[in-house]
Amino acid sequence: PVDLNDPSTLKVLSSIFAAQFEEVAPDAILPASIIKRCDNPKFGDFQCSAAMPAFASLKNSGKPMPPGINGPPQLAQAVIDSLGKDHPVVQDLRLQGPGFIMCKITPAYLQRQVQSILDQKCLPKPNVKPVTCLVDFSSPNIAKEMHVGHLRSTIIGESVCRILEFTGCKVERVNHVGDWGTQFGMLIQYLKEEYPDFADNTPNITDLTAFYKNAKAKFDEDADFKKASQLNVGKLQSGDEEYMAIWKLLCDVSRMEFQKVYDRLDVTVYEYGESFYNAMIPPVIEEFEKAGKLSIEEGGAKCVWVEKFPIPLMLQKSDGGFGYDSTDMAALKYRLHTVKAQRIIVITDFSQGDHFAMCNQAAKDIGWVDNGQQLQHIGFGTVQGEDGKRFKTRSGDTVRLVDLLDEAVSRMEASLNERIDQGKANISKEEVHEVAEAIGYGAVKYFDLRRNPTSNYKFSYDAMLDTKGDTAVYLLYARVRFESIMAKAKTEHSVDVEDLIKNGEKIVIDHESERKLALQLASFTDVMEATLDDLFPYHICDFVYQLSIAASDFVTQCRVLGSPEMNSRLLLCYVTTMAMQQCFDLLGIRKVKRI
Ligand code: ARG
Repeated sequence: PVDLNDPSTLKVLSSIFAAQFEEVAPDAILPASIIKRCDNPKFGDFQCSAAMPAFASLKNSGKPMPPGINGPPQLAQAVIDSLGKDHPVVQDLRLQGPGFIMCKITPAYLQRQVQSILDQKCLPKPNVKPVTCLVDFSSPNIAKEMHVGHLRSTIIGESVCRILEFTGCKVERVNHVGDWGTQFGMLIQYLKEEYPDFADNTPNITDLTAFYKNAKAKFDEDADFKKASQLNVGKLQSGDEEYMAIWKLLCDVSRMEFQKVYDRLDVTVYEYGESFYNAMIPPVIEEFEKAGKLSIEEGGAKCVWVEKFPIPLMLQKSDGGFGYDSTDMAALKYRLHTVKAQRIIVITDFSQGDHFAMCNQAAKDIGWVDNGQQLQHIGFGTVQGEDGKRFKTRSGDTVRLVDLLDEAVSRMEASLNERIDQGKANISKEEVHEVAEAIGYGAVKYFDLRRNPTSNYKFSYDAMLDTKGDTAVYLLYARVRFESIMAKAKTEHSVDVEDLIKNGEKIVIDHESERKLALQLASFTDVMEATLDDLFPYHICDFVYQLSIAASDFVTQCRVLGSPEMNSRLLLCYVTTMAMQQCFDLLGIRKVKRI
């Protein structure tokens, strides 16, 4: 049965074609996926490729062929003929090549889809079962500045959380802060030596990078300092009060700096740092030991081997200490069995891919993955400078995240001020900063999200802030343009879109550019379903970019204001801005009312 209310156009089409094949050739077996968008829009909107495998399955079954069918093209033609000329969903059916069926979607069906967005007052949610998800993202390290790698993890992670939440999933947003480890021995020693009165006078260490660097330099040069540092580690691990207090102080300072970045970028994430799992590590090691999966390596390190990997996971170092692997295994067990997360996603740079593949496999081997839980690592590429090398400042230092954000905002401020001076802007000088922040941060995010995260990318302020390219700047301007058409309808034609909606005014799809726009709007659910698979936000970027191109074509080719179709066209503008806003929300891009 074909359910025309299913918001997924792909599913509707699949069931239409499957039913038709069933009618024409009941014994044929169809593959799972039979419909996709046409590679070339000139040939149609969608193509069905079922005729070839269906014909092959008939032939192999040895059952009699339906009369008149002796190859895939005849089978495809029979399906086309049986669909007829006045189908409610598909039109312009054509046979192509060895048996492809090309088709277009009827304006009537698209009208229904777009109208339903308007009536529901929201974009349709994909039809999936909501589960508890855990997203481990951002995860910077204490006493170190966040760098562009952490920026990527933060931006991608926030968007992944929003995407999952949109589908109704409960999402645990976890910041796996690097707040434990041997480096703290050195940091504590340095603090004690450089700020001896730290107990009475909270030291003002805002430049933590410098603090870390200086401590490390001393550690490498000064043998006594190194020795003291190493002793500190033991004291800290045994819970010594004074040492814990210093550790906490360092964490607090870092935390405040991280929070500033999260506030600027509208990011919400809760800290469950490495230290949170300390007490859970020994029982995990014991579990592996009992299962006979622990291997004691030379020097006494306790390790777990995972098939196909050349090195083991190290659950306990030879000196008895716990490291990155220990924590991640304890965290994994906690997330699976205490949090009961059904889908766990960790987002780091790609170089940690093997580490997580090993952790996830070890968890499966020991039987923790007992409920079909999905474990996923999203590994992103590096950010490069325009020269293709690692992204550095002029002086060769790594780029500080905050400086990058400042620069994006100040460039946006300059361009907005210029527009004001040219009389092109709709905002006052007082509003420039706020708008520049929204666009600037949006641009930084979009520039990252719009590509496959696994790829490296070249960072360029000019490309990122381009008003004409595939950028947030272009998209935000486009959105404001559609808003202003609706505003003009009100001031110049006394037509208020909100009233049209209240009065039950309907959208009519007629012109080809209206049909194209509606087709794009009607693909939202399919895009979301594809996104839920790999959780790559670029699907949504592609969608909103294509949407804004289709909408620009529409307002260029169809007169909206003062036309006989004004009401319907205003509603179409309205649905477009709804869809754009939904995408911006999913990507974490702030709303801009006027520019
Ligand atoms: N702190 C690590 C880094 O800066 C990322 C931690 C990722 N999460 C995890 N569970 N290991 O590279």
